[in-house]
Amino acid sequence: MANTAHVHAADAVGETRRDFLQYTTIAMAGVGGVMMVWPLINSLNPAADTLALSTTDVNISGIGEGQRITVVWRGKPVFIAHRTAAEIDAANKVNVSELRDPQPDSARVKKGKEAFLIVEGSCTHFGCIPQGMKTTEPRGEFGGWFCPCHGSVYDTSGRIRKGPAPENLHIPPYAFTSDTTVRIG
Ligand code: FES
Repeated sequence: MANTAHVHAADAVGETRRDFLQYTTIAMAGVGGVMMVWPLINSLNPAADTLALSTTDVNISGIGEGQRITVVWRGKPVFIAHRTAAEIDAANKVNVSELRDPQPDSARVKKGKEAFLIVEGSCTHFGCIPQGMKTTEPRGEFGGWFCPCHGSVYDTSGRIRKGPAPENLHIPPYAFTSDTTVRIG
C-alpha cells in the first residue's frame, strides 16, 4: 500500500512534468520547423560565397510523413520527400527490368532511412523543375513527379516511367549526419 500511495503522489508530480515535457516538445518542434525552413530561405538568394559552399545541412525533423520540401544545394533545387509506407511499397513493387533506367528503390535511398528520398529537382530531359512537391500539384500516374515541359512522369522513387526524359532523377551526394540532420554535398 505504501508503494501505491507513493505512486499516486508521483503521478501527481508526473502529470505536471508530462505537461511541461509536452510543451517543451512542441516548442522544440517549432524551433525545428524554423531551422528547416531557414536553409531554404537563406539559399534562395545565395551570395557568391554561399554558392561556393559544397554542402547544405538540412534539419529533417519537421518534415512529416507524406511531406516534401525543396532545399537549395549549390544553387540547384534538391527535393526531400518523407515517403509514406504506401509510396515506399509502390516503389518496391516495380519490375526493375522493365524500367528505362533500371534501378531498384534500395539503390536510391540509404539503408535504414528508406522513408527519405532525396533527389535533384531537375528533369533529366532538358532540366525543367518537375511538379509534385505540393499535394496540389500534378504528380503523374505513378505518384512521384510530373514535368510539364514535355510530359515526363517519375515514380515515388524518382525513376523515369513515361515521357522523353532518359534517366531517373539524379541523386545528389548526401549523408545522414544525425537522426535529424542530412548533409547534402
Ligand atoms: S524538360 Fe522535363 S520533359 Fe522535357
